[in-house]
Amino acid sequence: MKLPIITERLILRKITSADLDDLFLLDSNPEVVKYVGIKPFTKKEETLHLIECLLNQYEKNGTGRLSVIEKETKKFTGWSGIKLFTEKVNGFKNVYELGYRFLPEFWGKGYATESAKASLGLGFNQFHADKIYAYADVENQTSNYILTKLGFENKGTFLDKGDKCNWYELQKINYESY
Ligand SMILES: CC(C)(COP(=O)(O)OP(=O)(O)OC[C@H]1O[C@@H](n2cnc3c(N)ncnc32)[C@H](O)[C@@H]1OP(=O)(O)O)[C@@H](O)C(=O)NCCC(=O)NCCS
Repeated sequence: MKLPIITERLILRKITSADLDDLFLLDSNPEVVKYVGIKPFTKKEETLHLIECLLNQYEKNGTGRLSVIEKETKKFTGWSGIKLFTEKVNGFKNVYELGYRFLPEFWGKGYATESAKASLGLGFNQFHADKIYAYADVENQTSNYILTKLGFENKGTFLDKGDKCNWYELQKINYESY
């Protein structure tokens, strides 16, 4: 991965252990995790374990979620990135998936969209994927809207840990036509 990625307003860089407090703030917020299939974190140990897993993914898979920093303030806003599925999700394995999660104070500024475009660029141009997948709880209106706006095609629903989710696919050709 060639990092950091710099967009108009954001910097995408690897997550490090220095992000512990910010990541805990993110995953302990019930509003943030409402549609992502986890319970709000209650202990920093959970975030520590998460960071270990993320560092392991960078090492083993050459990719993973990235911290998204606001250029102007240098604040941590959340994460975005391309993950390699090493275990089956909706029957898919060894495919790339786009994901994102932000602190509420940064919602509604277009950061999910801006960072998603950068992440997709990484997937298609650096990893040479021909398709990138994504999924969102059917009730997560904002995320479903963003994925559709990015050109993802809705390929139907599946159950993820009991939650009904839309499964999306974006072909490189559609990304290139932005
Ligand atoms: C979903 C999330 C990532 C969106 O981040 P964001 O930075 O606010 O998103 P953006 O500002 O880039 O885009 C939001 C778009 O959704 C639209 N939107 C907002 N609420 C909406 C709703 N209820 N229904 C439909 N569209 C909505 C906005 O108008 C905006 O569209 P526009 O760019 O055309 O004006 C953020 O709310 C979040 O982190 N949520 C918690 C974690 C999560 O759900 N992650 C996704 C899991 S699949």
